[in-house]
Amino acid sequence: MGGNTFGTIFTVTTFGESHGPAAGCVVDGCPAGLPLSREDIGRELRRRRPGGGAAGTSRNEPDEPEILSGVFEGATLGTPIAIMIRNTSHHSADYDDLRGLYRPGHADWTWEAKYGRRDHRGGGRSSGRETLGRVAAGAVARAFLASRGISLRAWTSSIAGIDIPGPEEPGFDPGAIDEDPFRLPRRDYTEKVRERIEALKKEGDSAGGIAGCMVRGLTPGLGEPVFGKLEARIAEAMLSIGAAKGVEFGAGFAAAGLRGSDNNDRPLPAAPGNNTAGGDLPPGVPDLNFASNRAGGVLGGLSTGAPLEFRVAFKPVPSISKQQLTVDRGGAVRELAVRGRHDICIVPRAVPVVEAMAALVIADLLLLHRSARI
Ligand SMILES: Cc1cc2nc3c(=O)[nH]c(=O)nc-3n(C[C@H](O)[C@H](O)[C@H](O)COP(=O)(O)O)c2cc1C
Repeated sequence: MGGNTFGTIFTVTTFGESHGPAAGCVVDGCPAGLPLSREDIGRELRRRRPGGGAAGTSRNEPDEPEILSGVFEGATLGTPIAIMIRNTSHHSADYDDLRGLYRPGHADWTWEAKYGRRDHRGGGRSSGRETLGRVAAGAVARAFLASRGISLRAWTSSIAGIDIPGPEEPGFDPGAIDEDPFRLPRRDYTEKVRERIEALKKEGDSAGGIAGCMVRGLTPGLGEPVFGKLEARIAEAMLSIGAAKGVEFGAGFAAAGLRGSDNNDRPLPAAPGNNTAGGDLPPGVPDLNFASNRAGGVLGGLSTGAPLEFRVAFKPVPSISKQQLTVDRGGAVRELAVRGRHDICIVPRAVPVVEAMAALVIADLLLLHRSARI
């Protein structure tokens, strides 16, 4: 039984169930000598907590990380980094009636179909709390990426049917994202989103949405064709997040309706002082820039040096307090209104998870890239 470890050189294994004693991760393959503190990890975990917006669950725990190994005197040792976050706010009784009932849209029945048993409390391992280990590991990867001048930024680009204008539009403010309860990049949309989410909450319903993400500072050539293409690795990472249902890069699905002459990003000689490759190109290969970025920063599964741009679609939160019909373990049709503390829309809380998974992929690809040529 596997599926809990991700990566080739820079690897992460996550552990923990929603109402178990703790969740966390073991990161292996992280280079030695990177500055890393408990606060670096705590900062990322706080971004994952439900904000002041009505979209988040009322289960709001301090999520303080404990670093158990791999860090000494403020820097990584090159040994496995184990990070644990204790679960402190169980309300397991809320889930008693789910022991023998299968929630529509959730993982309850498929987990029983595979393993024959499951921890029904808070969704067990298929809970959003599983992402704690990802975000903690992502903080380690981010420290590595920061040392290479790579930065990541994700945001809510669509929520409950409200599309938020993207980075190409005026008014996009990366500084607003972390302060906004819905992780919106524009302050002028917050109230409209709040109203929509409040209305859903009153109806006992939930909504889906889309997270956008941009990674800057990638050297050209990151990715391992053919099975480890950059897009393939990012897509796998994103689709491993609970409730993620789709990923698109650059122009994405819209590219299917364009002509080649409209879709191709025109290569340009790199302007002096605007060297995307940062001097990392093989001899004789000229540096390039691109007039547009419909490719989303990837060609042939390899980074182009332009920002890596992608979007991840999330379905509506399955656990809703609205009455639904389902089936119980005895095979009888039953009515169900899910109790417990649940998000109304996952996207605001998935934003740091998307960043963490992207950071883990890039960290791994950076280390793999070093073996490409001598
Ligand atoms: C950050 C995050 C928070 C989540 N919160 C909830 C929640 O409160 N209630 C719920 O039913 N599902 C929640 N989910 C979604 C479930 O984990 C997911 O839908 C479930 O495991 C079924 O898997 P699937 O949707 O990928 O098929 C959350 C997911 C993430 C990533």
